[in-house]
Amino acid sequence: MSLSDVRLIDFPKILDERGNLSFIQNIDQLPFVVKRVYWIYDVPGGEQRGGHAYKSLHEIIIALSGSFDVIVNDGTGEKKITLNRSYYGVYIPKMIWRRLENFSTNSLAFIAADQPYDAGDYIRDYQDFQQLLSGS
Ligand code: TYD
Repeated sequence: MSLSDVRLIDFPKILDERGNLSFIQNIDQLPFVVKRVYWIYDVPGGEQRGGHAYKSLHEIIIALSGSFDVIVNDGTGEKKITLNRSYYGVYIPKMIWRRLENFSTNSLAFIAADQPYDAGDYIRDYQDFQQLLSGS
């Protein structure tokens, strides 16, 4: 996988004077079937989350509220994606190192993944990540 596999995905926007609405529908909008969602909130100023890669998990990260930066790294380069709208997200495939930082007050990170939680799928050491990349 490389940084070019990381991409933004737009969700439908139903604009309405009463408030706007967006949605995710598996079949036609995501490159995978969602098996799990989770969200990260109440992040203290200056904190980071993530800082790992997955061996096989694919995910999409959305800033449902506020803003934060997603830093992605494919072992050769790094890219920063700022998320600050709830109607798009960033798709991150397996074997991309990623971390979330620069959370605004009251920001809400929503993550949809193609697998249930599995601690064994995490690569938490950056050197291990690089070794796995060079061996594949
Ligand atoms: P983790 O993904 O390690 O967060 P971060 O990479 O930001 O440090 O998750 C933190 C803890 O939460 C971890 O010990 C396991 C638990 N957890 C679950 O039980 N289920 C989940 O779906 C997730 C994402 C985490």
